[in-house]
Amino acid sequence: MNVLQLAADKVAEPKMPALTIEHIAVHFGGLVAISDLNFVVNEGEVLSLIGPNGAGKTTAFNIITGFLKPTKGEVRYRGTSLNGLKPHQVTALGLVRTFQRTSVFQSISVFQNVLTGLHLRGRSRLWDTLLALPRERRSEEELRAQAAEILQLVGIAHRSRELAGSLSYGDQRLLGVALALAANPSMLLLDEPVSGMNASETATFMRVLDRVRGMGVTILLVEHDMPMVMGISDRIVVLNYGRIIAEGPPAAIQGNPEVIQAYLGQGAKKRARD
Ligand SMILES: Nc1ncnc2c1ncn2[C@@H]1O[C@H](COP(=O)(O)OP(=O)(O)O)[C@@H](O)[C@H]1O
Ligand SMILES: [Mg+2]
Repeated sequence: MNVLQLAADKVAEPKMPALTIEHIAVHFGGLVAISDLNFVVNEGEVLSLIGPNGAGKTTAFNIITGFLKPTKGEVRYRGTSLNGLKPHQVTALGLVRTFQRTSVFQSISVFQNVLTGLHLRGRSRLWDTLLALPRERRSEEELRAQAAEILQLVGIAHRSRELAGSLSYGDQRLLGVALALAANPSMLLLDEPVSGMNASETATFMRVLDRVRGMGVTILLVEHDMPMVMGISDRIVVLNYGRIIAEGPPAAIQGNPEVIQAYLGQGAKKRARD
């Protein structure tokens, strides 16, 4: 087999699904927030879920992360059904959502925040703690090295000693990503991570996400910032009124008449209200 053929084989290799959303429906009383939602997030890809306000994005996010139970359907991650799992059980499977300001301990240092996150990850290994002191000491060193590495990766290592509460808005969000990474995700889920950020904070955040995906972490992004979504996504799923109206790579979504119509329609409603 020659080199070209090898390359062709590689391109033809089918993508492995990581997360599968199958026939998900969510009703809030009489309101149908999501009806028959089906999509797949492949291993290693960045998939963005977009759509006008009220489209059902956060609801879908909450279903996947175990904060809401679907009325119908199933979510599977790497072959395991997530139905009925509690949020911490979903996290333990490697699906980790970012935490906003509230989950950061404001009055301890940035470094201690990440170290605490790493300790929480290992808390099931109680025997290590109770029985093996030397081993525990070594592992404490390992954890400290790992915390430093994570802070390096998200670009706030120079803030390690500062109190988390004293960080700028953008840096607090980056600390949120660091805490998520401390939980050892194979898939990271973010709901509007750059909302409220200025352009330079958003650009920094995008570079960090690029680095995270470079480590092989699959990413599901719910986001309003279109330049960011178009710049970072491998594929985009567009929701409107709880249904998928388009799905594809950024270039195809940008020019899709139905997508443009959905957003224009929202603009028209907004203008009518103003
Ligand atoms: N807990 C809830 N109870 C009742 N209705 C809800 C609840 N959460 C969301 N909704 C409704 O479901 C629809 C989808 O909301 P949401 O998922 O937050 O949309 P998005 O995140 O796309 O803006 C909206 O009509 C919203 O009002
Ligand atoms: Mg939302």
